Amino acid sequence: MSKKPIIVFEGIEGSGKSHHISTVSKYLNNKKISHIKIREPGGNPNSEKIRKLILNNKSNFNRNTDLLLYMAARSENIEIIKKFYNKKIILIDRFTDSTIAYQHYGMGVDLNLIETLNKYLLKNIKVGFTFLNIVNQKNLQKRLKQRRSLNRYDKFKMSFYNKVQKGFIHLSQKQKNKYQLINSNLEIDKNEKLILSKIDRLIK
Ligand code: TMP
Repeated sequence: MSKKPIIVFEGIEGSGKSHHISTVSKYLNNKKISHIKIREPGGNPNSEKIRKLILNNKSNFNRNTDLLLYMAARSENIEIIKKFYNKKIILIDRFTDSTIAYQHYGMGVDLNLIETLNKYLLKNIKVGFTFLNIVNQKNLQKRLKQRRSLNRYDKFKMSFYNKVQKGFIHLSQKQKNKYQLINSNLEIDKNEKLILSKIDRLIK
């Protein structure tokens, strides 16, 4: 694997992925290791515009429109990824697995269609490693309640998030050496240590 891999942080709402990606970015900054940190949907200014549209509480797109909007956001974001691919470590808060987990496992959109679109957009770009953050229902509910504001994707039934999380786990089991599961119901400090020691091994 490249010493400047794409490292993705995945997981459902409240699973701690955004916290952990920030910790890793700070850790790399302290070590003066150049990297970029982006998110999906979002990343570059155009995809941030699409993010606002998808997640706005007043939006009520159907599942296919959502899929195409997530892909549109990725299509814009991929330009940054291409620019730095194999040149800098790229940290991404959600990527292609989120589309399969949410739009296919959660919403029932055809898997082949999603895979075809992902392949078309990514071409030779490959994810190096994924941290999959897992959370139980009790903590998920608690963490969503603590949020100051909820977007359109924070308001699904618990059964939806269960399906999505199972989807993520299923994906991780297909390529076990490329995933690390992080149990975010456990102590955050221990998880941080686990993640940072894996990061060290990935980039050495
Ligand atoms: P975030 O608030 O964690 O950034 O995530 C935004 C929401 O978008 C989250 O509920 C997951 C969802 N999402 C999809 O449904 N499909 C996708 O392809 C991506 C990237 C995100």
